[in-house]
Amino acid sequence: MSNRYAVILAAGQGTRMKSKLYKVLHPVCGKPMVQHVVDQVKTLQIEEMVTIIGHGAEKVQAQLGESSFYALQESQLGTAHAVMQAAPMLEGKEGVTIVVCGDTPLIKSETMEALFQHHEELKAKATILTARIEDPTGYGRIIRNQDGLVEKIVEHKDATEEERKINEINTGTYCFDNAALFAALKNVSNDNVQGEYYLPDVIEILKKQGEVVSAFQTNDLDETLGVNDRVALAEAEKIMRKRINEIHMRNGVTIIDPDHTYIETEVEIGQDTIVYPGTILKGKTIIGMDCHIGPNSEIVSCQIGNETVVRQSAAHNSSVGARVNIGPFAHIRPDSAIADDVKIGNFVEIKKAVFGEGSKASHLSYIGDAEIGSNVNLGCGSITVNYDGKNKFLTKIEDDVFIGCNSNLVAPVTVGKGAYVAAGSTITKDVPEAALSIARAHQVNKENYVEKLNVKK
Ligand code: UD1
Ligand code: CA
Repeated sequence: MSNRYAVILAAGQGTRMKSKLYKVLHPVCGKPMVQHVVDQVKTLQIEEMVTIIGHGAEKVQAQLGESSFYALQESQLGTAHAVMQAAPMLEGKEGVTIVVCGDTPLIKSETMEALFQHHEELKAKATILTARIEDPTGYGRIIRNQDGLVEKIVEHKDATEEERKINEINTGTYCFDNAALFAALKNVSNDNVQGEYYLPDVIEILKKQGEVVSAFQTNDLDETLGVNDRVALAEAEKIMRKRINEIHMRNGVTIIDPDHTYIETEVEIGQDTIVYPGTILKGKTIIGMDCHIGPNSEIVSCQIGNETVVRQSAAHNSSVGARVNIGPFAHIRPDSAIADDVKIGNFVEIKKAVFGEGSKASHLSYIGDAEIGSNVNLGCGSITVNYDGKNKFLTKIEDDVFIGCNSNLVAPVTVGKGAYVAAGSTITKDVPEAALSIARAHQVNKENYVEKLNVKK
């Protein structure tokens, strides 16, 4: 095997996306397109990877980090001009260079490996990854001669009516003999409809020099999708979603309706967990075994223990233990830590709150900036009054406390271990351990008073 190099093209603006965000940074299942490409290329034993950056250079570089070297393409004069920017790093090296577009997020490392091998076996100077697709509109077409050998690539905009009928397209991924590539790039002109230096023109140049030029056709049409607009972005998302869901299902996760389950690339899910429709799992979410997640739940960067149930709820940047029951209609806001066997019931919002083992907030509560011990019962309508309009304060509720329904806990305040707060209390002072605290107006009943009121009934 010869030395391998890679060039990733990621300098374009992506005008057709009509977006503030640079095209290659648009996420597909939560991961920027160019990161998908780089992650696949990384597995190919590449000596040196150079990413061509231009529009949004800093952001693209910040996204990809140290996994690549970078070359700046100051003005975007075309894909050949883009590759030329890697010359200071790659020109003169012996080996094979793969060029991949940063806007083909579905390309797989296996396919690129097969492309490398095909290229190396044929001792070709250039090998194009091609595909036959139903609607080739917009793609470069592969022009073959009578013997079926590749002659050149013609861009859609430059193609004749006849050429446009060809449905074998350039996927935008190629292997080149590195030295031949950089030599040929010098001969590419911009004499075409778009006035750009086209990388595909290298094919014709090498062919005319009598070099071996080849095509390797992939049957996985999905992989060839180049994302130029939001319609293609949605298509890419759909295909990637299917791939991700299938990996989880093969690993022993039940997904009731994979077409309506949205799982980002980094999510992990344990065996025998069931994911119900309308569920969105994002970020670095890790879900344990035997959980029931959904329907209609959004979980972002949370760790969830085994046998936990989350129904119709949202949870962000928090940890949740085992056998926890959340929802329906609960909201777990960031920095919450929920221990095992907790219940967070319907219409309960928690924020930056710690819940000890076995504690319950079963209905209609707001618990924010709070440390709740274990085996605490927060009655229906319990509220931590954490904010005075300027600052946030902590509520501490120690183990085995019982908070009666509709109580306000005005922070900063501590309710001591085993204490009991009567329903309807507004607690403004600390409650000692094991005390009963009642903080509400006394009830007065005036016997037979109603008739004196002289009100109509
Ligand atoms: C390109 C190919 C076309 C192929 C298609 C596959 C050319 C001329 N055409 O067309 O044959 O069928 O991909 O998807 O190469 N870029 C730069 N600098 C530039 C121009 C582009 O870095 O000056 C980058 C873009 O960011 C993008 C990639 O190169 O990631 C491809 O550019 P794009 O403009 O999308 O090319 P297509 O028109 O799709
Ligand atoms: Ca493209």
